[in-house]
Amino acid sequence: MTTTERKVIQHRFAPRGAARQLFTDKSPEILLSGPAGTGKSRACLEKLNFCALKYAGMRGLIVRKTAVSLTSTALVTYRKQVAREILANRVVHWYGGSAQEPAQFRYSNGSTIAVGGMDKATRIMSSEYDMIFVQEAIELTINDWESLTTRLRNGVMPYQQLIADTNPDSDTHWLNQRSLAGNTLMLESRHEDNPMLVDDHGARTERGADYLAKLDALTGVRKLRLRDGLWVAAEGVVYEGWDRQLHLVDRFDIPHDWPRWWSVDFGYTNPFVLQRWAEDPDGRLYRYAETYHTRRLVEDHARDVLKEVTKARTGEWKEPKPRAIICDHDAEDRATLERHLGMSTIPARKDVGPGIQAVEKRLEVAGDGRPRLLFLRDSVSKRDPALVDAARPASTEEEFPVYVWDSTPGKPPKETPVKDNDHGLDSTRYVVAHRDLQGVPRVRFM
Ligand SMILES: Nc1ncnc2c1ncn2[C@@H]1O[C@H](COP(=O)(O)OP(=O)(O)OP(=O)(O)O)[C@@H](O)[C@H]1O
Ligand SMILES: [Mg+2]
Repeated sequence: MTTTERKVIQHRFAPRGAARQLFTDKSPEILLSGPAGTGKSRACLEKLNFCALKYAGMRGLIVRKTAVSLTSTALVTYRKQVAREILANRVVHWYGGSAQEPAQFRYSNGSTIAVGGMDKATRIMSSEYDMIFVQEAIELTINDWESLTTRLRNGVMPYQQLIADTNPDSDTHWLNQRSLAGNTLMLESRHEDNPMLVDDHGARTERGADYLAKLDALTGVRKLRLRDGLWVAAEGVVYEGWDRQLHLVDRFDIPHDWPRWWSVDFGYTNPFVLQRWAEDPDGRLYRYAETYHTRRLVEDHARDVLKEVTKARTGEWKEPKPRAIICDHDAEDRATLERHLGMSTIPARKDVGPGIQAVEKRLEVAGDGRPRLLFLRDSVSKRDPALVDAARPASTEEEFPVYVWDSTPGKPPKETPVKDNDHGLDSTRYVVAHRDLQGVPRVRFM
């Protein structure tokens, strides 16, 4: 007598709170909203994977604003936690995609989960899906969102669904408004929902105590959003003109003949920031690459940047050399940077007031409908894990909502910014001052 053995693959996931409701709710659009680290992405990925296994032949999609940002976030959670066992047992395998088809996970029951970014949407938008998971949905525009909903008509699952997760943004954000209008069901995810942080008896785990202490150390609107999970506007911000929808743009190949500028703000405990800027023929400045990292030496940064801009074998430059490297004033750091880059630097004009005004002016929409200061998405190639883990800004664009005026009683309003969350913004101010404030006389009152 022969027996056929059926291998049983075990996977454990116990959803709590909002994550649990997400699992059973069939509403057409569900958003898991909440502070940092509550388990939102994990819960969405678990549901998607569960449906892929349950409904043979279903088509799913994991999407974020840019494909690059997905690789280091949701896909890591999917591979290491959600699909670890089934990947190991070849129930699912990775297919890298082709000219027609997006990259995807293929299940042995015929289900697929495609993966992509809204920045290169052609391949993902040419398919139809049963379930779409949008990671960090506040990054999308309402247009992105609505065009995704038109792709939900594969009809293999008994219901079609858009699920999404996000940290809160301003109360006026279209996504919050959409949920207030009743079009999207918003479920509030809490730290108590995550068993890694809070145990079954409601007590903080060691990791939970450590993580929540980091979030408690945040300030301002970042704390309200990432610690408390509130949709609130940033108050007292220095750059009121900043608008992610306007100033943050998709990456593009920068023409070789656009002049380049580098700007540097030194730091060790605080992040060291080196921004690379390109200037278009109309004088618009584009930040296209950025180092933003704590606890590394100036010479290490110099070496890494040189690696990014030159060919490994020949040392030949892949992009134009900067016309100037505009630096914070620290003499020793400047000397070290010059020595290791093999290039000279110039000291930045550091007058805070005029510099801030010049940046604000560039953020304004000009006559041609576009601002004159733009940030390409995903410019930081190696995000600092220490900053990410502590939910601190890890790129210049993340500083804008938290760079605020010092409003201590007795201080004149809107005169001095709080010297925090200003590392990338100081470098930005230096390059703008260099381009726009040349020839403006400096007045020193004696
Ligand atoms: N129910 C659960 N069981 C086991 N581990 C969980 C559970 N929920 C969350 N986790 C783990 O907690 C960690 C954080 O989860 P996740 O990345 O999903 O949080 P998030 O809310 O998406 O965070 P962020 O706000 O930073 O995007 C992950 O390692 C995840 O696997
Ligand atoms: Mg997440």
